[in-house]
Amino acid sequence: MKKNVARTKAGFQGRLHFQPEAPEPASAPKEPPAPKELRRATAESLAQKQREISVSEFFSKNRHLLGFDNPQKALLTTVKEAVDNSLDACEEAGILPDLVVEIRQLSETRFVMAVEDNGPGIVRPQIPKIFGKLLYGSKFHSLKQSRGQQGIGISAAGMYGQLTSGKPTRIWSRVSSDRPAHYYEIRIDTNRNLPTVVKDEKAEAWDRPHGTRVEIEMEAIFKKGRRSVDDYVQQTALANPHASIRYLNPLGESFEYPRAASELPVEPREIKPHPYGVELGMLHSIITASRAGTIKRALQREFCRVSEKVASEIIEKAGVSGSKRCRELGMQEAEALLKSIQQTKIMAPPTACLSPIGEQLILEGLKARLPADFYTSTSRSPSVYRGNPFQIEVGLAYGGSLPAEEPMELYRVANRAPLQYQQSACAILRAALTTDWRSYGLQQPRGALPVGPVALFVHMASVWVPFTSESKESIAHYPEIIKEMRLGIQECARRLSAHLRHHRRQAEESKKRSYIEKFIPHIGIALGEILALNRAKQQEVVSLLTETLERSRQ
Ligand SMILES: Nc1ncnc2c1ncn2[C@@H]1O[C@H](COP(=O)(O)OP(=O)(O)O)[C@@H](O)[C@H]1O
Ligand SMILES: [Mg+2]
Repeated sequence: MKKNVARTKAGFQGRLHFQPEAPEPASAPKEPPAPKELRRATAESLAQKQREISVSEFFSKNRHLLGFDNPQKALLTTVKEAVDNSLDACEEAGILPDLVVEIRQLSETRFVMAVEDNGPGIVRPQIPKIFGKLLYGSKFHSLKQSRGQQGIGISAAGMYGQLTSGKPTRIWSRVSSDRPAHYYEIRIDTNRNLPTVVKDEKAEAWDRPHGTRVEIEMEAIFKKGRRSVDDYVQQTALANPHASIRYLNPLGESFEYPRAASELPVEPREIKPHPYGVELGMLHSIITASRAGTIKRALQREFCRVSEKVASEIIEKAGVSGSKRCRELGMQEAEALLKSIQQTKIMAPPTACLSPIGEQLILEGLKARLPADFYTSTSRSPSVYRGNPFQIEVGLAYGGSLPAEEPMELYRVANRAPLQYQQSACAILRAALTTDWRSYGLQQPRGALPVGPVALFVHMASVWVPFTSESKESIAHYPEIIKEMRLGIQECARRLSAHLRHHRRQAEESKKRSYIEKFIPHIGIALGEILALNRAKQQEVVSLLTETLERSRQ
């Protein structure tokens, strides 16, 4: 502050240098001590601080993005990541999955979760990277339906375990019965996003002929009820009728979900990207990186549904030479190609990359799980958003002992994996909310789900489910997706409405019949008295009346 005074003085006196400060007289009032001057950063000092951020460091700070925002959810997310991987691996290897899910409690807030499968196992050199490095996986680059996508699941779960318990991830894996099983302990070096192998040894005692077991110790909370691991495992069994799951929870309860279908789902095929789904930068980098030689051949080779004829049409409209080398494609030419792609009629992508659950199995699953008295299901035909094929399946259960006074129960499933959290952000909720349930005979408060004994199951199968975050809890609001969901829901709701109308008619009829049965004998007696009929005549009149009324009722 003093310096400022001096500066002002200097300025006031029209001089550019500082005045030396005169010593203060002893009697002058004491001023508060001057604060230390703020040292401003310079480009150089900033440069010293600038450095790369490792992806694991990023996600350890932002663990909520991966579904580890509280100890209860962290436990569910960990189980989910491990179960997703086990089911994916078994299906890819053509093995009917036999899973064991175990959660043991060590202390009030410390748990160990273990998931074991009979899958193909993991080869030794891959183990450290899979469990000790984020963004490492086999599914990110392939356009094929699978539960995992980003290559972030199991390593992130291991990282959470390590951060909260200090313990490494423990893995047992065996690739075939003529090779020994191996046991590993893997840590993740979060600063460098690299694995550290703590242990790697033979595990003779592990007797599965092939498969993998993952154990993660972590801080967690186990709760029953909605969004519990119990619920999740049950819904996983519903969406995966071909899997057999044994589940032991920390309360000592065990649940067996035997497989309801003895065949594996149709194996999804990998496809190439569809031209309608690419953006400029991606188109440019796909073509320049292609080994097809010319731009025209690259279009045919790197994308699906581009025949020789379609490629010629695209190139011609764009005014680009088809025989130009891939490497030489400029950004402006790429832009012209993209415009031309959008104006060219190209067949929808092949749908063999999808593996829906199927109407029959959805129906069987609902019947096994929900005590209703009406069930229906539908599989829509495949559709496309942003060039990605997807397929919507819907199941509905009504009546029986489902709670009659509560809002509809919604089961959301993406690529056969149940979604538990963030319902309010999900396209499935939007589709259910914007369906006019009143026109199908249900009560629906404004802006809410219908109320009644009804449960709705919606499955989205796709090569790329557009999740709203890395924790994969809700599906983004693409209009094409919501439209398909609504159409599927409406189809099931129409069948429900027919069932309800039939039911109501039957109820009315039986009410009428009971009136007839109740009052006609009395009419018979009265007529008998008025007309002085004998008993036989009176009986005859009663039968005649009943017959006439029955006929008119029908
Ligand atoms: N139980 C398992 N059996 C066989 N392979 C597995 C298993 N778990 C994980 N993997 C392999 O490790 C990779 C990384 O898994 P993950 O980090 O969960 O990412 P993502 O599932 O998204 O690919 C998978 O892509 C898969 O190839
Ligand atoms: Mg995974």
